[in-house]
Amino acid sequence: MERLSRKFKKTIKDLTQRSLITHNNPKSPISEQYRTIRTNIQFASVDKEFKTLMITSSGPGEGKSTTAANLAVVLAQQGKKVLLIDGDLRKPTVHYTFNVSNIYGVTNVLTRQRSLKEAVVATKIPDIDVLPSGPVPPNPSELINSNSMDQLIEEASSLYDYVLFDTPPIMAVTDGQLLANRVDGVILVISSGKTEVEAAIKSKELLLHANAKILGTVLNGKDVSNDNYYYYYGAN
Ligand SMILES: Nc1ncnc2c1ncn2[C@@H]1O[C@H](COP(=O)(O)OP(=O)(O)OP(=O)(O)O)[C@@H](O)[C@H]1O
Ligand SMILES: [Mg+2]
Repeated sequence: MERLSRKFKKTIKDLTQRSLITHNNPKSPISEQYRTIRTNIQFASVDKEFKTLMITSSGPGEGKSTTAANLAVVLAQQGKKVLLIDGDLRKPTVHYTFNVSNIYGVTNVLTRQRSLKEAVVATKIPDIDVLPSGPVPPNPSELINSNSMDQLIEEASSLYDYVLFDTPPIMAVTDGQLLANRVDGVILVISSGKTEVEAAIKSKELLLHANAKILGTVLNGKDVSNDNYYYYYGAN
């Protein structure tokens, strides 16, 4: 019983705790790292505009949702209009992170019960709107692999400067691959000490197989306290 309750508490924590460090502590070195990712995305946009982006990783709990949310914040801090879409229709968390309702969302738009504009929710952070998952559907892959999804992406791109998708793990279900094919670029999160090298390679293969443009990888959770990172940071 005790074990069960601990597991339950952990599940609740996993669902609800995702820090918006870039908003709460924009001057921290971690926030600076998110700004570096932002710069790299913008440098990649020289020849082709990368406007619709998805954030994924090979397995669960590697930091996809945290990365997607903080990336949305640093883009908005530059005055860009950002829409963060919860493309994880199996384990949605965007509504927890931004503390908004999840009554309507992606699934309602894809099934044409709501228009995009009706389903989008403004957050407390200026320039960030979110499209939560909406009710969890029985057929997530089918919804993602639909003409409605193409239309949703097209409309969202016309309304926002950046459209970011949070997604489920790429190795677990096909949803990520189906989305990868529809967005301008993919960011692959690798969790330091957690993601196996083989899993990272396999994920990259799956994405390339889906004709995805991998913009880059983000190394999440690296403990920088033991190297000279802070020293260099302070010295420069
Ligand atoms: N760099 C980090 N440092 C500390 N905690 C982190 C870091 N990145 C993520 N976390 C924590 O790890 C947990 C999982 O992160 P997150 O939800 O972003 O991963 P995910 O890849 O979206 O997971 P899922 O596959 O379940 O959707 C969360 O509780 C989050 O707060
Ligand atoms: Mg997630």
